[in-house]
Amino acid sequence: MKKEGTTSIGKPGFDIKAWRSQFPILERVVHLANCSQSPQSLRVRKAIADYLDDWNENGMNWEKWMADVSASKEEFARLINCRPGEVSMHASASQAITSVASSFDYSGKRNKIVVTEADFPTVIFIWKACRRLGIDLEIVPVVNGEIDPASYEKFIDERTLIACIPQVYYQNGFKQDIALIAGIAHKKGSLIFVDAYQALGTEPVDAKAMDIDILVSGNLKYLLGMPGSAYLYVKEELIPGMNPTATGWLGQEDPFAFNIHDFRYANDGRRFDTGTPAVVTACAAREGMRILNEVGVAQIKLWIDELSRYALRELAGRGFETTSPHDIAKKGAITSIPVPSPQTVETELKERGILVSARGPVIRLAHHFFVTPEDIDRALDSLEEILR
Ligand SMILES: Cc1ncc(COP(=O)(O)O)c(C=O)c1O
Repeated sequence: MKKEGTTSIGKPGFDIKAWRSQFPILERVVHLANCSQSPQSLRVRKAIADYLDDWNENGMNWEKWMADVSASKEEFARLINCRPGEVSMHASASQAITSVASSFDYSGKRNKIVVTEADFPTVIFIWKACRRLGIDLEIVPVVNGEIDPASYEKFIDERTLIACIPQVYYQNGFKQDIALIAGIAHKKGSLIFVDAYQALGTEPVDAKAMDIDILVSGNLKYLLGMPGSAYLYVKEELIPGMNPTATGWLGQEDPFAFNIHDFRYANDGRRFDTGTPAVVTACAAREGMRILNEVGVAQIKLWIDELSRYALRELAGRGFETTSPHDIAKKGAITSIPVPSPQTVETELKERGILVSARGPVIRLAHHFFVTPEDIDRALDSLEEILR
């Protein structure tokens, strides 16, 4: 159990009580599964309801649908500090990565793709499938839950076309210094692709300042949306040289010309769009990202760091182990705890009104801006009970 007098923690730089009231489920549930699915907010629910109402009242409404999708791209662009014209929308991160992988010619000398053991398996599977296109794949190892930045010096070389970097490791929250790795990659003439799915929404990600070439993130985790949407950033200068075979009519310069004899990719991020977007999930995504832009990711990061310090202190005080980094500078929102039968523990916590996410040998407590230290206490009290 918790030791007396150990709840010393700073205050968030936003009105946490007011924001918590946006998420009705938080009245009943401790929500620490944000690395997997974040809770539903009233505003996101309304955005979905508005779509359904409009469909019901007005039927087909292409102009509005396209405007909704554009608005979602604008919120994503605000989150990562890029131009909306550098953003495309996809149904999942996997589809966005497939689009990128289909965009290059691998017949030249630069045909090596570098991935890491910390990548979500989808990244590695997609590039493995591309081996038949002529790529060489190399995998940077994870050692003791982390990747030594010096490994990138070794693995990225003059044959590397793209170095794929997960900003935050989905298993233990290990966070990488993207600007540093971008520097190493660019020095060797390689592009950098960032999978920011476990980072975006929890801290500032500045695609320009970090010198990121390509970035993907989806919306159901920290971005407060639902399944069915992910966004891809491709740096403006790179777009004309990338020709996706995973394409469709909405990737064309003038999709509404319907002229099959005039095949011309769009000259901005729309080049990576394909077919009719999932408009209803774009509405949810727009509203979720708008909330984050309003709260402010810089403030969110400060609070998540506070919660991380608190969780690490509590874990140590209660005799739990963690596979997450102890250095806050190297830690994202996930705090992972090795337990026997993680899936069973996840289910038993859920029965007690506590949502966490099991992955491999651990359960993950994933903080977000609406999480309180009391939530962490409740989760750890219940965990102690279950494991006893
Ligand atoms: C870091 C990371 N990348 C990619 C994915 C896969 O995303 P999607 O299912 O949208 O393809 C996940 C899903 O958990 C993830 O955590």
